[in-house]
Amino acid sequence: MMQSRSTGVRLVLVAAALCLSAACDAPSSGAGGAEGLSLFLDNCSQCHGAYAQGTDLAPAITEVAMDLSEDDLVDIILNGEGQMEPVDLDVEEAELIALYLADELLEP
Ligand code: HEC
Repeated sequence: MMQSRSTGVRLVLVAAALCLSAACDAPSSGAGGAEGLSLFLDNCSQCHGAYAQGTDLAPAITEVAMDLSEDDLVDIILNGEGQMEPVDLDVEEAELIALYLADELLEP
């Protein structure tokens, strides 16, 4: 598959694909939707908590990530940051999680 640098365009495509396949009109599903949530629960919540509220293992994402863009989030997920090890996910999965976090948690 071609690796594109323009993650923004691909995020829109992912969101559009989700609207075709998932319940796009469910108010709570956001752009990352249920899949973003379930990926977050499977891959991030053991350290960051189910609501990204933070645990003894990792800080709350809601607080530290306010200034991060979705691209930054994808980069942190795939490459790690500071004490955080890279998480073994593909780009599409990281984008879904970033969308979920940006939509559900970071914006009021
Ligand atoms: C094994 C534990 C662990 C897992 C799993 C984990 N993280 Fe982290 N994460 C950390 C720790 C520890 C830090 C604090 C890193 C630091 O500041 O040095 C962190 C920091 C972060 C930050 C803040 C980075 C910053 O700029 O301060 C974000 C955003 C983040 N994690 C997102 C995620 C996401 C999304 C996932 C799931 C794909 C995830 N993390 C999975 C341990 C984890």
